[in-house]
Amino acid sequence: MVKEILRNELCEIMGTKYPIIQAGMGPFSTNQLAGVSANAGVLGIVSTSGFGYLRGDPAKMTKGVSQVARTLTDGQGGTWQEQLKRALHRVEESCREAKGIFGINVMVSSEVAEFAREVIRTTIELREEDPEMKDRLRVIITSAGDPLPMTDIIKPSGLKWFHVVPSVRHALRAERAGVDAVIASGQEGGGHVAWEPVHTIVLLPAIVRAVGIPVIGAGGFGTGASLVAALALGAVGVQMGTRFLATKESEFHPVHKDYIVKGNERDTIVARGVVGPLRWIKNEAALEFTRLTVRKAPGVYLGEPEDLADVAQEVRAQEDKGWDAQFRGDGPQALMPGGEVAGLVDDIPSVRVLVERTVKEAEDILRNLHRKYLTD
Ligand SMILES: Cc1cc2nc3c(=O)[nH]c(=O)nc-3n(C[C@H](O)[C@H](O)[C@H](O)COP(=O)(O)O)c2cc1C
Repeated sequence: MVKEILRNELCEIMGTKYPIIQAGMGPFSTNQLAGVSANAGVLGIVSTSGFGYLRGDPAKMTKGVSQVARTLTDGQGGTWQEQLKRALHRVEESCREAKGIFGINVMVSSEVAEFAREVIRTTIELREEDPEMKDRLRVIITSAGDPLPMTDIIKPSGLKWFHVVPSVRHALRAERAGVDAVIASGQEGGGHVAWEPVHTIVLLPAIVRAVGIPVIGAGGFGTGASLVAALALGAVGVQMGTRFLATKESEFHPVHKDYIVKGNERDTIVARGVVGPLRWIKNEAALEFTRLTVRKAPGVYLGEPEDLADVAQEVRAQEDKGWDAQFRGDGPQALMPGGEVAGLVDDIPSVRVLVERTVKEAEDILRNLHRKYLTD
């Protein structure tokens, strides 16, 4: 049976049927996506980066940003902490019947570290208040920053802790911080990528070799074949973003999904992003933004981390304009994160169909490889 073949230590750690994670993808909270993913047997992830908007002054928000802020809430008001708790409750309720397991993604980069701590504290508090929540919300995935300052708050909580890393050095630091697994995030991936570009095929085995904890692959995964490849490279599973974005249930705009389906493997480009370099779907806005990045934030291409305060106003303004257009679904003007795996995505299935066929493909490949190379 499929589930027996793929069932491994990552399934044990997460409490899921399959060793697959639906990646956190802001700025939407991906509540619905997380719930259906959890119910399909993978780890569903609620994204919390968008909750940062709820702290802002609504009067100063661009139209698009306030629209995102609204999608995170149920319209019942309250502080952002109360809204986050209610959002997590909705996910927990949606996966109670099918006993789905989910987690949250929290970006911990220095610019947002204080807010990240508060998100983590709120989540832990909620788990302590509600035993059902404790049972369903089992994993925290931190990313985009230093995990060490979060050890004191996450470790005693009982949450399983994964951290996203772009290099062996970062993986060793995460291991020192006490994480349960690292997610090796290669340059193919959609959304934030590393200052120094290293691709999954090298990064993943290098990290597997260096650390003594489980390693999960991210960046470029979207098929059963790539899941098998990750296992062959020593990983215990994969995290997929772009592939889950292009599903019926994901909260992203249909135009964004359409660009992913139509794009080929060369249709993404790296330019500046919110907290570092970011891989965008290549369109008019991304090309213009890349030119601007070359001129006004060249450090992105030279591997020099930039302070958020240093970024040229013109670049920030262009980025805000691009996000706004994304939320409106204005195709050519929208800045839309997406990974190279867009070249392998050619439909918008339901999450359940996607998961089942990915697992089936992986199983068939494993059987065929065994038959072809290991039997007489
Ligand atoms: C639209 C989009 C938004 C993303 N937002 C986040 C985020 O808020 N936090 C984070 O840790 N990673 C974010 N990522 C990265 C994903 O979590 C994941 O690591 C990445 O998509 C994996 O590469 P893939 O797209 O090739 O599957 C985002 C990716 C995409 C495509």
